Amino acid sequence: MAAEETMRAFLVFEGLDGSGKSTLIERLAAELKARGRDLILTREPGGTPLAEDIRGILLRTDVEAPCDRAELLLYEASRAQHVDRVIKPALARGQWVLCDRFAASTVAFQSFARRLARAEVDWLNAYAIAGADPDLYVLLDLPVEESFRRRAHRNLGQGVDDDRFEREAREFHEAVRLGYLTQAREAPRNWLVLDAAQSPEALFEDLLKNLEGRGWLAKS
Ligand code: TYD
Repeated sequence: MAAEETMRAFLVFEGLDGSGKSTLIERLAAELKARGRDLILTREPGGTPLAEDIRGILLRTDVEAPCDRAELLLYEASRAQHVDRVIKPALARGQWVLCDRFAASTVAFQSFARRLARAEVDWLNAYAIAGADPDLYVLLDLPVEESFRRRAHRNLGQGVDDDRFEREAREFHEAVRLGYLTQAREAPRNWLVLDAAQSPEALFEDLLKNLEGRGWLAKS
């Protein structure tokens, strides 16, 4: 087997609601499997039974909302468990890890949007991640206006209510977007910013081209 085929990678997907994250991850997973890659698909908050329980606590709306510091610590507790029990073992086995949200979400939501100190969030992220830094963050960048439009459309179709985060004001989501774009600017080599307003097919092609450019995938 060629060295290129055995290489594992830790890829994280970030973006506003409606950015097409889930579809893109599913497509990439199918493509990698078709190319014989061994991979796991996972998500945050969650990814292990305990972390999924913490996710349930974070997303429920029928009890008191956690204060901002408690919320941050719950995300980090979920992350520490996920890293130790799922991500590190998968990488050690040589698998690709495709993760729906990770530490950059904490910087965007808890620091840029909730306004907790960046240095503290960075420290807690590093503590929870314990060295398992992603090889690449893929940001599906979308204007907040378009995210709201897509969400309204989806909710209408499904008859579902917005969860606690989705009820946040527009400026909260503008801060989240700025949080992602700022992190991408700070570490351009670890970030790929894709225009999520384009079609799902074009988005996927962009992603594949980039992974090929990095030598992680052979040219198709
Ligand atoms: P989820 O339903 O998974 O959102 P999405 O489908 O958009 O990924 O809910 C996760 C929510 O938690 C989402 O609004 C982002 C938020 N979040 C944080 O605030 N901090 C974090 O560290 C993470 C991982 C997620």
